[in-house]
Amino acid sequence: MRAVTYDRYGPPDVLHVAEVADPVPAAGEVLVRIEAASLNPLDWKLREGHLRFAPPVKAPPRGTGTDLAGTIVAVGGGPGPRHVGERVFGSLSPFGRAGSCAEACVVAVHRLAPVPDGVAADAAACLPIAGGTAVQALADDAQLASGQRLLVVGAAGGVGHFAVQYAKHAGARVVGVCGPDNVAFVAGLGADRVIDYRSTDVLASGETFDVIFDAANALDWRRAQRLLARGGLYLGTAGSTTSAIATGVGAVLAPWFGGTRARNVVLNGGAAAWRRLGDLAARGILAPHVERRVGLEEVAGAQAAMQTGHGRGKVVVLPQLMPRAAG
Ligand SMILES: NC(=O)c1ccc[n+]([C@@H]2O[C@H](COP(=O)([O-])OP(=O)(O)OC[C@H]3O[C@@H](n4cnc5c(N)ncnc54)[C@H](OP(=O)(O)O)[C@@H]3O)[C@@H](O)[C@H]2O)c1
Repeated sequence: MRAVTYDRYGPPDVLHVAEVADPVPAAGEVLVRIEAASLNPLDWKLREGHLRFAPPVKAPPRGTGTDLAGTIVAVGGGPGPRHVGERVFGSLSPFGRAGSCAEACVVAVHRLAPVPDGVAADAAACLPIAGGTAVQALADDAQLASGQRLLVVGAAGGVGHFAVQYAKHAGARVVGVCGPDNVAFVAGLGADRVIDYRSTDVLASGETFDVIFDAANALDWRRAQRLLARGGLYLGTAGSTTSAIATGVGAVLAPWFGGTRARNVVLNGGAAAWRRLGDLAARGILAPHVERRVGLEEVAGAQAAMQTGHGRGKVVVLPQLMPRAAG
């Protein structure tokens, strides 16, 4: 089978498509023929070696990509909760060597949920990390309630666009922050107001918020203080060590400075989380925006583009999509 792999940490051009042996599932695992994968910033951060000192992360050679949707073609170790022919979606452990940008991969059963009827494979593949983080942040961490005021920073990105959709469903008043090219897109997601960070300083917006979800980690809790109502919550997504530490410090200090709170959102994924996302997608509450569909040969270019930090919605990888002929 074909898989996008890399043999050393480095820039996007370390990625190449290789012919590798079909993996064999062990007990508690299944082999999934992948119909669609989706990209996340985690993929390029792993490839660049940002997590190389985290002991559980396997060093290259390894595959790239975690999120996937497809069909089970083999079950390891006898009968289990999943069966051959079932359509599933989920996310691989980022610690292992397997990657979802491949024609097939082995996945632990507890990392998969059924694709609901009416949800396409490419939409399901967009959900796990980005949708999971947005819904966990707003539903669980913030317990966002109808009528609350929410600021979403990075509202056009993979995480942010799901956050705007979920927050509108929850009945919040949503202000989205994005760059000039994405203003119409974020308004189209249902945001009540959109702030273009290039032309308007969000800190001077004149509004206060019950919750700030800084999906892009662009604001930082200290600067966000002045936008938070008393008791308000700042949520960052720990996009870098610096931002994770800054929000961690905020978690300790924020209550003493203005009676606010701060927290890093760390996705707690798995079958139960994916089932909730599948249900939200089946009901049309989460509608993944696929900005671009690429084949395996285009993954390196797509990761390079994502690395600029200005993605809109999601990029989907279709392993069966062949490169376009030149000319
Ligand atoms: N902790 C966790 O469990 C977890 C889970 C998922 C993601 N994350 C992290 O969350 C971050 C976002 O992930 P993603 O999938 O949404 O990435 P993405 O799809 O690449 O989106 C990034 C977004 O950031 C926006 N942005 C860049 N600079 C900005 C600024 N100064 N102000 C406001 N927005 C700005 C971009 O919008 P414009 O193009 O409009 O500038 C872009 O839409 C990444 O660092 C990722 O690693 C963490």
